[in-house]
Amino acid sequence: MMATQPLVHVPVLLQEVLDNLVLPPAARVLDLTLGLGGHAEALLARCDAKARYLGVDRDPEARYLARRRLGEDTRLEILPCAYEELWSDPGFLAWKAAEAPDGFDAILADLGVSTLQLRTPERGFSFRDEGPLDMRMDTSSGLTALEWIGSQTDETLANAIYQYGEERASRPIARAILKALQEGRLATTHDLAQAIYTVIPREPAKRKGHSDPATRSFQAIRIAVNGELDRLALSLEAAVSQLRMGGRLAVISFHSLEDRIVKQTLRRLAGIYDGPGRTAPMELPKILKLIHAGGIAPSEAECSVNPPSRSARLRVAERIA
Ligand SMILES: C[S@@+](CC[C@H](N)C(=O)[O-])C[C@H]1O[C@@H](n2cnc3c(N)ncnc32)[C@H](O)[C@@H]1O
Repeated sequence: MMATQPLVHVPVLLQEVLDNLVLPPAARVLDLTLGLGGHAEALLARCDAKARYLGVDRDPEARYLARRRLGEDTRLEILPCAYEELWSDPGFLAWKAAEAPDGFDAILADLGVSTLQLRTPERGFSFRDEGPLDMRMDTSSGLTALEWIGSQTDETLANAIYQYGEERASRPIARAILKALQEGRLATTHDLAQAIYTVIPREPAKRKGHSDPATRSFQAIRIAVNGELDRLALSLEAAVSQLRMGGRLAVISFHSLEDRIVKQTLRRLAGIYDGPGRTAPMELPKILKLIHAGGIAPSEAECSVNPPSRSARLRVAERIA
């Protein structure tokens, strides 16, 4: 289902990404989450005519809209793939052998959902608009959210809501959702939200300034349906191995679970030991140098113009070995 209304997507932490990725002449850039091409457009504007930009996305609609936005720019190639599968994908291997045999100067991963996905009711990502319970980023494969919920028990659903949504009321919420399913009252995003509100009532006046009680459970189900955290650490390691010496990886995450994985992975690859005890059992190889060790948060100005950017954090690292 293609979005009908024009979507304005504001790329998050754009200036910070531009300031931290280094684009030499004939740059080779890998964008693991092309989305609507917002970052790609700005990065391509800074690249010369000999640059090559590979944009990857698992969402067919995003790829279509990104191509429409970026027109016939021949420096850009768009690849349909999940970044977890990219490293052995024949299309990627062929492109890389032809265009970037020495690796990439810049790799960007802007994780999570896009404005397009959140604002298209038919995609079923948001409790604000009514739509079918889908939530798949790749609409051509995998279980929809409704099918995934139907494959869960009280316990596994509660565990997912707790683990991926950090929701303390995960057990009663899981029971309420599965009860609604058994009683034939679970088909749409509003049905799912209603089931959650039976456990944590939505009181708009009292809850002003608080997030909607459905936010955490929706996030959790979306992460589970798309396996968003399953292979993130491995994918980041694979991305690092594709960098040229001096090349930089920039990762934008949107919630603490994601950011923790990004932070721990980059620190480990920078030779920093975070395990138990004071010293590492063995010396960790230093493959990366961290740029801005604490990560970069959006400015006040960005948060006020683009409130969804509030929770974003950018981490950047440079390959040194
Ligand atoms: C936050 S948006 C990216 C927005 C983009 N930087 C822009 O400026 O338009 C994230 C995109 O990553 C895609 N995505 C999420 N997980 C993915 C994965 N594992 N593999 C490939 N694409 C993924 C989503 O479909 C979505 O389009």
